[in-house]
Amino acid sequence: MTDRRTTMQQDMIVILDLGSHENTMVARAVRELGVYSEIKAHDITVAELQALPNVKGIIINGGENNIIDGVPIDVDAAIYTAGYPVMSVGHALAKVENLPAWPEHEAVLALLKKFVFDECKATANWNMPNFINDQVELIRQQVGDKKVLLALSGGVDSSVVAALLIKAIGKQLTCVHVNHGLMRKDESESVVKVFGEELKANLVYVDASERFLSKLAGVADPEAKRKIIGAEFIRVFEEEARKLDGIEFLGQGTIYPDVVESGTKTAKSVKSHHNVGGLPEDLQFKLVEPLYQLFKDEVRACGVELGLPHSMVYRQPFPGPGLGVRCLGAITKERLEAVREADAILREEFANAGLDKKVWQYFTVVPDFKSVGVRDNARTFEYPVIIRAINTIDAMTATIEEIDWPILHKITNRILAEVKNVNRVCYDLSPKPNATIEWE
Ligand code: XMP
Repeated sequence: MTDRRTTMQQDMIVILDLGSHENTMVARAVRELGVYSEIKAHDITVAELQALPNVKGIIINGGENNIIDGVPIDVDAAIYTAGYPVMSVGHALAKVENLPAWPEHEAVLALLKKFVFDECKATANWNMPNFINDQVELIRQQVGDKKVLLALSGGVDSSVVAALLIKAIGKQLTCVHVNHGLMRKDESESVVKVFGEELKANLVYVDASERFLSKLAGVADPEAKRKIIGAEFIRVFEEEARKLDGIEFLGQGTIYPDVVESGTKTAKSVKSHHNVGGLPEDLQFKLVEPLYQLFKDEVRACGVELGLPHSMVYRQPFPGPGLGVRCLGAITKERLEAVREADAILREEFANAGLDKKVWQYFTVVPDFKSVGVRDNARTFEYPVIIRAINTIDAMTATIEEIDWPILHKITNRILAEVKNVNRVCYDLSPKPNATIEWE
């Protein structure tokens, strides 16, 4: 069950989705002006609008998806006379003729600015200190004196939720960090240091490495590996949850794109999202999702405001199955260690060269075959390391980063000198498509 809360103090512009592809873009543009915005379904009633806090104006955002089951959709006519300033864009309602489509970005912004500040008289009070103050209050109201459980992976979203919940309810939160043995170098250690030691969280650290590795032993099929890792994660988390008494709430790092991508009335679901899905029926918690209003960059800004380290807040995307999908085929400790050490070198050298701020995702892969090499005048038969560095907007397509040769040479030399069981370094030049970003 979800009890999603919204802002308390901050002014809001509501965007009514009348079939536009550009709802998210408009919501973002309003927030760039410093005013909070939320997308709502076209059939919201005036009473529902009035129940929302501090609504200063409404943007009716029309588009090509304005027919549902063969019937054209429209907003409730009463909305026009409910006393809110209304701006209609991108669609042709009978009442409003010659509506403009959304113009180029800057002209949008000018149009929006005029509407938001001159007509709606909204205050630019959407910022992270205000957001955090509101959420602390709302979380306290929702949770009361009850306890909250959170799966803390160390990823951006779960880390920021943890920091926010710690600020709001302190020891009423229990964080569970499951180390599945497929984390990057020093990652679990950093979760323990930041949350256990610095933020003094109630942190349960579970080293389940051996358990995951034994389940994965001999399993070479990528899908089978993913399923084992996912299922085992739920099992470990469930076991920990059962050891704790009186938990009523589950914290989740749901963010606004998850909400939008889970489907709207006019757009089909892109993906169903579950951060910790699949818990057994008798472990039904109420959800606390304090980031559900935020876009990714806002989540990062919130993390910075809460004092989390830059490396945690700005870390690149990392798949749930971790290094498990970068240690190709049946995972062995030897190759897992090689991919982890090579990845640490790559990340260090990218940071030295400033590429960590430029490149969207970069990592190493170790395949499950060997090649012949030579070291100290002796034959070697060892694994290659493959470097992958890509840029993308939405991870649906990707291009490769053209890393400068001197940087590639330095990384290659370091990997060959420092990583055990490796005698060759390759650079993956494949865009997506035809390759995917990950190798498995
Ligand atoms: P692909 O390999 O499909 O990856 O081109 C697209 C993006 O998704 C990430 N990825 C995952 N993220 N769980 C995740 O949370 C996963 O199982 C998973 N698999 C891939 C990948 O790292 C890339 O950013």
